[in-house]
Amino acid sequence: MEQKLRQRIIQLYQQFKKEDAQKENRLEKWRNLEPESAELISIMIKTQQSKNVLELGTSNGFSTLWFADALHPSNGKLVSIEIEESRTQQAKEHLTDFQLSENVALITADIGQFLTEAQPIYDLIFLDAERKNYVAYWPYLQNLLTKKGSLLIVDNVISHHNDVEAFISMIQGSGDFTTSIVNVGAGILLVTGE
Ligand SMILES: C[S@@+](CC[C@H](N)C(=O)[O-])C[C@H]1O[C@@H](n2cnc3c(N)ncnc32)[C@H](O)[C@@H]1O
Repeated sequence: MEQKLRQRIIQLYQQFKKEDAQKENRLEKWRNLEPESAELISIMIKTQQSKNVLELGTSNGFSTLWFADALHPSNGKLVSIEIEESRTQQAKEHLTDFQLSENVALITADIGQFLTEAQPIYDLIFLDAERKNYVAYWPYLQNLLTKKGSLLIVDNVISHHNDVEAFISMIQGSGDFTTSIVNVGAGILLVTGE
């Protein structure tokens, strides 16, 4: 990422962190991805030369900004799903502000519903939503991972390990996937069928 853009994006992250600190209700917080994790996933997108990326949980578009920028060299496309219309709007404003909206489709929808119709076209899928739903998402995510070379990334697997324990056990128990937990930010899980 270009240095000036990085500085602006980090300033935005600090602003969102301050806003989150003033909110009591967890669900009202932005809960943005840590910049270290966003940086690592951006490297993966660039080196994978991803053509299609799916983000499940947009919030106000902080991680979306990183991924949209990383997809620029490959002219790749990003689809990002968020259930709250007001958050989709906020994300749209941020993308426009950073001139990164061109290759991004922001969709206001329920992830569970979206996944029932999703096709295995994505090179990289980033899951960052309500963790209690992940087990129910797995059959659909598993289907998306049938695309050769595709990678699923799940945030908060160290910070909220108990919430995702059953989900991770389910993936590892199937024996068909390779997993790795990376200690960056809140901890990210990598899952691939390769
Ligand atoms: C942790 S935040 C995402 C943060 C974002 N990826 C970032 O780093 O900036 C989770 C988001 O998922 C959304 N969400 C939760 N459940 C959802 C669902 N069933 N369908 C779509 N979005 C959902 C929430 O409204 C919230 O904005």
